Amino acid sequence: MSQRRKILVTSALPYANGPIHLGHLVEYIQTDIWVRFQKLRGHDCHYVCADDAHGTAIMLKAEQLGITAEEQIANVKADHEKDFAGFHIGFDNYGSTHSEENRQYSEMIYQRLQENGHIASRTITQAYDPEKELFLADRYIKGTCPKCKAEDQYGDNCEVCSATYSPTELINPKSAISGATPIAKDSEHFFFKLPEFSDFLKEWTRSGTLQNEVANKLAEWLDAGLQEWDISRDAPYFGFEIPGQKGKYFYVWLDAPIGYMASFKTLCDREGLDWDEYWKPDSETELYHFIGKDIVNFHALFWPSMLHSAGFRKPSGVNVHGFLTVDGKKMSKSRGTFINAAAYLNHLDPEYLRYYFAAKLTASVDDLDLNLEDFVQRVNTDLVNKVVNIASRTASFVKKAGGEMSANIENAELWQQFLDAENLIAELYEQREYSKAMREIMTLADAANEYIQAQAPWSLAKQEGNEQKVLDICSLGVNMFRALMRFLKPVLPATAEKAELFLDETLNWQEPLAYRAGAINKFKPLMTRIESDKVAAMVEDSKQAAAEAMQAAKPAATGPLADEPIADEINFDDFAKVDLRVALIKQAEHVDGAKKLLKLTLDLGGETRQVFSGIKSAYAPEDLEGKLTVMVANLAPRKMKFGLSEGMVLAAGPGDKEIYLLEPHSGAQPGQRVM
Ligand code: 2FM
Ligand code: ZN
Repeated sequence: MSQRRKILVTSALPYANGPIHLGHLVEYIQTDIWVRFQKLRGHDCHYVCADDAHGTAIMLKAEQLGITAEEQIANVKADHEKDFAGFHIGFDNYGSTHSEENRQYSEMIYQRLQENGHIASRTITQAYDPEKELFLADRYIKGTCPKCKAEDQYGDNCEVCSATYSPTELINPKSAISGATPIAKDSEHFFFKLPEFSDFLKEWTRSGTLQNEVANKLAEWLDAGLQEWDISRDAPYFGFEIPGQKGKYFYVWLDAPIGYMASFKTLCDREGLDWDEYWKPDSETELYHFIGKDIVNFHALFWPSMLHSAGFRKPSGVNVHGFLTVDGKKMSKSRGTFINAAAYLNHLDPEYLRYYFAAKLTASVDDLDLNLEDFVQRVNTDLVNKVVNIASRTASFVKKAGGEMSANIENAELWQQFLDAENLIAELYEQREYSKAMREIMTLADAANEYIQAQAPWSLAKQEGNEQKVLDICSLGVNMFRALMRFLKPVLPATAEKAELFLDETLNWQEPLAYRAGAINKFKPLMTRIESDKVAAMVEDSKQAAAEAMQAAKPAATGPLADEPIADEINFDDFAKVDLRVALIKQAEHVDGAKKLLKLTLDLGGETRQVFSGIKSAYAPEDLEGKLTVMVANLAPRKMKFGLSEGMVLAAGPGDKEIYLLEPHSGAQPGQRVM
C-alpha cells in the first residue's frame, strides 16, 4: 500500500431553496464513490458539504411561503440531509453557509483581501423595484424584447430571438417580483480585483489541476481579459453584513466556497483534526472540489484567487462534470423526468442509481444520460444477473459441504485475472473513470459466470465422489464474488454490507486481494430486480407533484420562479384527451391556512366538483359566485394539503393581481363541452 494520503473533498453546496433532484445526485454520487474508494484504500479522506443558504432567491422563497429565512433554510437542510442519507452520500460533515464558522472565515478573508488592496469600491447604477424596495438582478426584470418585440422576456436575453441586451434596453420593463416599473438607482458596491490575478491564474489553470477541456475554456476567458467581480449586495438581503458597511452584504457567491472551509472546521472541532494543516499555503494535504460545469468560473477563477490573496492553499483539483439528461432530453416537469430524490426513493433502491451513474460517469465534462429503459436493463443484467448470481449459484454448495471454503484454487488462471485487474480498477477509480472501472468489473463477472456455467456444480453434485471438486469450484465462485464486491464497494455500500455478513468478513482494499478459505454464512438474496412499473410510477408521481406545485404557486407560468413557461409540444390525440367543460361557480370560499388558494364548488350541469385554485391574489370569493368559467373535467383527482381537488379551472396572466379566469361566451351552459 502506498503512503497514507490526507485528502479533503467537497461537493458543491446545494441552494437552500429547493429539493435535491437526480440532476444534483450525479455530483454527490460521483464524489461519494471517490471518497469511499479513498477511505477503502486506507487514506485519511474527509468529505464535507453544506447548504448554500444565502441570497435573494432564498429570501424571496421564504417570503412566498410566509416563513422567516432562518425557518426556510432549516426546513430545507433537514430535507436535504434526509435525501442524501437515502442515497448513502456519506458526508463527514454537512453544514450551512449561514453559520458562525462561515461568518468568521468570510470576514477574515474579506479583511485580508482588503488589506492586500484587492478590494475596490465605486458607485453603480442598477434597476430598483420602488415597491419592494430592492435592487433587481437581471433575472428579476421582465419586459418586451427590444429586437423582436416578444413580450415577457427576462432582463438579459430573449428566449424567442436569442438576443442579449441589458435590462435598460427592455421595452416596458417590469419587476418580476412586484410588477412595478423599475427605476434606476445608484449605490456603492465592493469589487474583488480579479484582473490582478490574471498571471497567477494563467499558470494555476495549467498546473494540472483541471481537465484539459476546462483549462482550455478558461484560457479563452483569460485571454479575453477578466473583469472586477462585484461581491456586495444591498439590503434587504439574506446573508452576512459586511463589517463596517451598514446595509451592505457579502454576495452569496463570496461566502459559498468559504463554506467548504467552515464545514471542515466543524468537522475538525468534532474529530480533533488540524484545520491549518489542510489550508496552510504549503500544505501537503490534497484538496478536491467536485462541481458542475456551470460554476467553473467561481471555482477556477474567483476562488483560487481569493485563496491566493488571503494566504491559503489552492485546490489540488477542481473536478468538473456535465449535466444530467433523462431519456436524451433536459429534465422536464411536465414529462415527469424532473425527478426529486425523495420521489425516486419512494419507489426504487438508491444503489440502482448509484450503479447506473457509475456505469456512465467518466472524467470528462460530457453530459450524462439516464435512459430509463436502459437503466432497468443495465441494473438487472449487470448487478442481479451477473454479480449477485455468482454467489447465489455457489454459496449453497459450500454450505452443504459444511460451510467452509477450501483453499484449493480450482482454476488458478481464472483467479489470476481477478488479481491482475485489481490495480487497474483502482487506478480507474482514482482517475474518476468509473464507467471503465464498471466495464472491467463486469468483464470479470462474465468470466466467473462462464466458468460456473461450464463447471455446472449443480450437475456434478448429483454424483457421488465429486464432493471435493464441487467445493473447490464453489469456493472459487464465492472468492470471485468477494473480489467483485470489494471492487464494487465504493458504488454499492449497502449491498457490500450485506455481502460482508454473508462472507463473514469486512471487505477492505488496503491489502492486495488474496484467495480466502474458511467459513461463510448463509447466503440471502442481496438485491432484487428493478420492475419497470416502479420506474413508471416514479415518473407519474413526479408529474403529479409538478402539477400540484404549479397549481399552488401561480396559475400562469411566468416570473422567475416558474421554470417551464412554454410546455412541451403535444399531438392532437393528447389534446383531444383533455375534457374541457363549461362550469358554473356555485360557491367560492377562502381556505384556512392557504395563502394562494380559493376553494371553488363548480356545477357541471348536474354534477358538482370541488376544485382548489391559486387565484386568491386576484379574486374575492364574492366576485366569482354565479360566474361561468372553463375547467379541465377529466383531470385525475389530486389530494392536496387542504382536501381533494377534482379538476382545474383555466386562467391566464402573469400572476398576482393579474390573473384572469377564462369565461365562455354568454349562452354557454354548465356542463357543455368546450371545443
Ligand atoms: O450552483 C449552485 O447550486 C451553488 N449553490 C453552488 C455553490 S458551491 C460553493 F461554492 F459553495
Ligand atoms: Zn427577442
